[in-house]
Amino acid sequence: MPGAVYIKTFGCQMNEYDSSRIADLLRESHGMRRVESPEQATLLLLNTCSVREKAQEKVFSALGRWKPWKERDPGLVIGVGGCVASQEGDAIRARAPYVDLVFGPRTCHRLPSMLDEVIASRRPQIDVSFPEIEKFDNLPPPRADGVKAFVSIMEGCSKYCSFCVVPYTRGEEVSRRFDDVIAEVYDLAADGVREVNLLGQNVNGYRGATHDGGHADLATLIRYVAHVDGIERIRYTTSHPGDFTEALIEAYDAPQLAAHLHLPAQSGSDRVLKRMKRNYTAAQYLELVEAVRDKRPGISLSSDFIIGFPGETEKDFRDTMDLVERVGFDRSFSFIYSRRPGTPAAYFEDDVPLDEKRRRLKLLQTRIDENAAGISRSMVGTVQRVLVEGASRKDHDRLSGRTENNRVVNFQGARELVGRMAPVRIDEALPNSLRGRVST
Ligand code: SAM
Ligand code: F3S
Repeated sequence: MPGAVYIKTFGCQMNEYDSSRIADLLRESHGMRRVESPEQATLLLLNTCSVREKAQEKVFSALGRWKPWKERDPGLVIGVGGCVASQEGDAIRARAPYVDLVFGPRTCHRLPSMLDEVIASRRPQIDVSFPEIEKFDNLPPPRADGVKAFVSIMEGCSKYCSFCVVPYTRGEEVSRRFDDVIAEVYDLAADGVREVNLLGQNVNGYRGATHDGGHADLATLIRYVAHVDGIERIRYTTSHPGDFTEALIEAYDAPQLAAHLHLPAQSGSDRVLKRMKRNYTAAQYLELVEAVRDKRPGISLSSDFIIGFPGETEKDFRDTMDLVERVGFDRSFSFIYSRRPGTPAAYFEDDVPLDEKRRRLKLLQTRIDENAAGISRSMVGTVQRVLVEGASRKDHDRLSGRTENNRVVNFQGARELVGRMAPVRIDEALPNSLRGRVST
């Protein structure tokens, strides 16, 4: 069935990564090309997210839109992958019986054979099992698409925060073999990639088997990746404060490791953190930030926050705002708490009124936005190392790239700079980007 696949991705960077790998796989197995509009496709896939209820509901409304297409063209194949698929399994077909394929985050590599089976038997195929790490052994080598690439280094999460579905939908932590990750980074660098983002739900829980029978942690992996010719910038997402080791702080010796750290705090209240089962206190979080800043002065920090967790009082929220003040976060992914069936927190009374949750969320986001604007203004007049990605989206005469603290910079410069690090003097801070010029 050569043809075209359309993949709509919801949720996290892990899902973005899986979607691009699914596209690579189907190109290799079935000669399929990935298309940007569902109308052109013969295979329609949703790669779903169930971290919050809203994301989950979007899946069924997208499926509802495709239902009449399937009625008109029974040869069209519709598949649902990712965390909703993992959680709901066969139940997806109870709400949407026209779905042909259901696959989980750990079984996306089996899609080609499942697709063959659907075409041959015209019967739905469902596989949301959790095989260990075979997924990565069965994916084609990734192709570089530009100067930046994600490299998935582990799957799943064993932290079991009380509010989170991930350990149930993506399974427990499994790390990729150390040598495989390094080999992938070499290949990407040879294809022109200059920045890698090491990905995992709990990336600093990485423990990759080495060829001599030992294990390597994230700090060791970073040191090796820093030695790969061509790799000029390394990021990692997402790290858990509870698994942040001394060795990882020491890894900031490597100049390639970007001066930006995404370290989800979730809350600044010890009472709430305990009920979230995060295994650290606000004071321990602050100590960690201080230790990282001692090692790498000026590092910028971003966080995830959950607002209106069951039992969150005004005082708990003030503690969160206090943490925001003390750390001076540059950015946050902050959301209102969403009750997830099957998680321990689902048994807590969701007692903070919605209006109150919204008010608190707005206060938090406004404060962090102000802070981010202040950081942008403080960058005016400085020279930043910018990884040049290509032409600016709005003005093709300009180039565009990112600073270490992940701000987009648009600037005048020669085309040859694309794919390289360029020193750029920042002239102006706009709400969503910076403007500058190449510094000589
Ligand atoms: N591994 C990361 C960490 O150390 O916290 C987070 C991964 S999680 C999939 C991404 C973010 O989704 C979390 O940091 C949390 O803020 C948010 N999240 C997870 N469950 C949630 C829920 N039930 N309601 C609202 N937000 C939630
Ligand atoms: Fe979820 Fe906590 Fe893991 S937020 S992904 S259970 S670290």
